[in-house]
Amino acid sequence: VERLLGPRDLDGVHVVVSAGGTREPIDAVRVIANRSSGKQGYAVAAEAAARGASVTIVSTVDRPAPVGAAVERVETAAQMQSAMERLAPSAGVVVMAAAVADFRPAAAVDRKIKKHDGVPEIVLEPTPDILAGLGANKPAGQVLVGFAAETDDMAANAQRKLVAKHLDLIVANDVAADATGFQHDTNAVTLFSPDQSPVEVPLADKRQIAAAVIDRVVALRRAATD
Ligand code: CTP
Ligand code: CA
Repeated sequence: VERLLGPRDLDGVHVVVSAGGTREPIDAVRVIANRSSGKQGYAVAAEAAARGASVTIVSTVDRPAPVGAAVERVETAAQMQSAMERLAPSAGVVVMAAAVADFRPAAAVDRKIKKHDGVPEIVLEPTPDILAGLGANKPAGQVLVGFAAETDDMAANAQRKLVAKHLDLIVANDVAADATGFQHDTNAVTLFSPDQSPVEVPLADKRQIAAAVIDRVVALRRAATD
């Protein structure tokens, strides 16, 4: 991808971005899903590619690949985990923008559940925390980025996730607010990194939010090599 204006400050860096909400099967036709559109993850991928990165998106959604990015389609948290664990070890930057289900049916039924069988009891089990696993196995020099969707106590929850998952940056958004987060073209976020004061990025197009995230990623990479 060529770009006439603007920095190419991720030239040659492999960036892996997850995007969209996972879909966890209940039976042959039904899933547990969530409201994530994948837009913020695709915007981060497009911004990274425009700045010279080679980008892989691990995606649950059917959206056109940004110029300069390759897309790997997955559906479930388990599929996303195996793709991320395969791609992350050789990546310079990993961004978990996906909305991963926290719970999935413990056993998917391989046929369609019928009405006449009565109301089903769906037993759930936890999914693996993909990002925590990536944090525990993070290679030296990699910048690892998480997102946090919060309705309450945003700062405290985001700081806790930053530490617990060994992240270099967490992008927190208040999903209770209007015009931000799920299914919107705009977002407003706060960036948290270890030993830094939180930085608010006010309501903007998701591509501009992505640019602020990538600016911070570039700064973290520079700080690591200084
Ligand atoms: N995440 C993940 N695997 C999961 C759940 C979450 O990789 N099973 C990642 C998300 O992609 C995001 C970060 O962890 O980058 C935080 O997700 P979030 O849902 O905000 O936090 P959780 O740790 O799942 O905690 P909770 O939902 O209870 O707030
Ligand atoms: Ca969660």
